[in-house]
Amino acid sequence: MKVPFVDLEKQYAEIKKEIKDALEKIFNKGDFILGEEEGQFEEGFAKYIGTKYAVGVNSGTDALFLGLLSLGIGQGDEVIVPAFTYIATALAVSFCGARPVFCDIDEETYNINTNKVEGLITKRTKAIIPVHLYGQPADMKPILEIAKRYDLKVVEDCAQAHGSEYKFKIQNSKFKIYKVGTMGDIGCFSFYPTKNLGACGDGGMVVTNDKDVYRRLLMLRDYGRKSRYEHIIIGYNSRLDTLQAVILSAKLKRLDKWNEMRRKNARIYIKYLEKNENIILPVEESYARHVYHIFAVRIKNRERIIEELQKRGISVLIHYPIPLHLQRAYKELGYRKGDFPVAEKIAQEVLSLPMYPHLTEREIKYVCDNFNRLV
Ligand SMILES: Cc1ncc(COP(=O)(O)O)c(C=O)c1O
Repeated sequence: MKVPFVDLEKQYAEIKKEIKDALEKIFNKGDFILGEEEGQFEEGFAKYIGTKYAVGVNSGTDALFLGLLSLGIGQGDEVIVPAFTYIATALAVSFCGARPVFCDIDEETYNINTNKVEGLITKRTKAIIPVHLYGQPADMKPILEIAKRYDLKVVEDCAQAHGSEYKFKIQNSKFKIYKVGTMGDIGCFSFYPTKNLGACGDGGMVVTNDKDVYRRLLMLRDYGRKSRYEHIIIGYNSRLDTLQAVILSAKLKRLDKWNEMRRKNARIYIKYLEKNENIILPVEESYARHVYHIFAVRIKNRERIIEELQKRGISVLIHYPIPLHLQRAYKELGYRKGDFPVAEKIAQEVLSLPMYPHLTEREIKYVCDNFNRLV
């Protein structure tokens, strides 16, 4: 049997009919950039997430970059970023001329360690970027409290967590549930094809409730223009194209169902792996509705196991083998091995098993049977 890491074929089969007509309509209209359907997708996405505004851009990286610019982050500023995430989170900070300040992560969730954030704040700190890694929300309550105390912006990196939810404790046993992207000043999403909501190419979105931020984003993504020939800021060309928006609209309708399928697959994995004491399984926190963009387990000596799994037709990946403070690109920042021990340990042990909505129990069992035999 072959089990790919991600298989989008069955997902495409579900939407094929619906998008075929819609795409043809756009080809006939020739309305490819910021067309009517792109606006409709922005409206639909904002409604789904629960914010007033959504602005389509051309990648998740640009969503973070333009999002930070829209909040006034720039030269000389510092932005706190988890040391264990995809590098794009930090790159967006660097693009603004600001400095990423890395923070260690929590050993159970792999998200930013909220107890370590306050100690990193300086006079230059302007923002915190919690990343909802693998689809599990970062613990937003303490982050928002710190941000309020120090007057910092909060930029949620939701690239891996479309539809994920956070239970915000109000008092005693009362909760309010928020979708990720609605709690910070802005929420930034990626529509990279393999994401929980993925385009057929690059794409991204910034969501916000702030009208001024929204207005700035509209200009930043479109050459800084206020009207067709009037440019009032130095803007960029970073727009979500209409063809992608049509595909994403069709997928958005199915996102909750597909996330539920991922959650079910995670439960099946856990059922087959939980007895193995050599495997550390992902944990869903009591405040979280995890959407399992990635199902990452932890093991020792993973290299040999990866090779053996590959021989048996099972594709696995590592998200991520090198924490950001040890990336060559960030050598100039002066971090050293040992600075963030949890991020370094997790980076050596994580292994992502195949995960996508249409994965079958038979396929999961095949992965687990082989994995249990090897680990
Ligand atoms: C956590 C995180 N942030 C940002 C990005 C960047 O998104 P994109 O690839 O759409 O630029 C990714 C994409 O992989 C990501 O996983």
